[in-house]
Amino acid sequence: MNNEPHNGQSEVSVASNVSYFLEHLSEYHDSVRDIDTYKTLHQFISNEVAGVSELLDIGNGGVFDYDTSRVGSITAIDLFLGELPPDVVAKYFPQNCRLIQGSALALPEGDGKFDMVLMVMLIHHLTSTDWRSSWDNARLALDEAWRVLKPGGRLLIVESCVPWWFFRFEKPALWLLSRSIKSVFSHPVTLQFPASMIKAELEKKTDKVKMTEIPKGKFVLQFGFKVPSFLTPAMPFAFEAIKFASNAVATSQFSAASSAPPVQSRRRVRC
Ligand SMILES: C[S@@+](CC[C@H](N)C(=O)[O-])C[C@H]1O[C@@H](n2cnc3c(N)ncnc32)[C@H](O)[C@@H]1O
Repeated sequence: MNNEPHNGQSEVSVASNVSYFLEHLSEYHDSVRDIDTYKTLHQFISNEVAGVSELLDIGNGGVFDYDTSRVGSITAIDLFLGELPPDVVAKYFPQNCRLIQGSALALPEGDGKFDMVLMVMLIHHLTSTDWRSSWDNARLALDEAWRVLKPGGRLLIVESCVPWWFFRFEKPALWLLSRSIKSVFSHPVTLQFPASMIKAELEKKTDKVKMTEIPKGKFVLQFGFKVPSFLTPAMPFAFEAIKFASNAVATSQFSAASSAPPVQSRRRVRC
């Protein structure tokens, strides 16, 4: 397969994400349910999405690490969601969810549509053949998420981030892996960024960005395997940014958001 960048993300990255997450949906779903770090994330994200009317979940992959019953309606987007058989859709997707096949780098959705946009463990999957173009992909995904947010809406990113010293090793590793073995144990090649890089990028869009380091449990997933947390310097971070008209509005919305506003409307959408 051609490894030239395709819409920013390399074709190999697109293909390996599709094949890996299609084949491992049930396994990945169970790991997210069982591993302590993801249970902490579940609680955190559930609190954040509670009361949201229209949620867009980008890079959803059939895995909802949050309580979907607390959201009005969910639009789930991923590279392969149009390829799932009906029984798989019925098993893994809630009733209030609409499935869309598409890319985070060119969202097939109109401007200003969603109250909240969510990206959980997506950014490090948007790889190209070198770190700079992978970072360009991450920035493009943020632009796209921002575009489809309503004014007053919130972008919530939960992402695995690494310290700067580790990022220095990851950069050449990505370059080598993307030219040689192309996937790690069939898992797509990934590139985790330092949290401060993502925060600084969001601060170009709004001056109200909240960054939270989420404590790891005893285990995490690395390349699809459950590994003891102490073996990796990667840490989960949450970034929350509000698209707003004035600073005064943003301040009041942050406090309103964390105290879980009531659901504005509940709509059932067929999967
Ligand atoms: C680690 S999984 C995260 C799944 C889920 N969000 C969760 O909470 O566990 C990464 C997901 O990103 C998806 N992905 C990779 N590149 C993408 C792209 N360009 N657009 C949309 N989704 C993408 C993969 O297919 C995969 O489902």
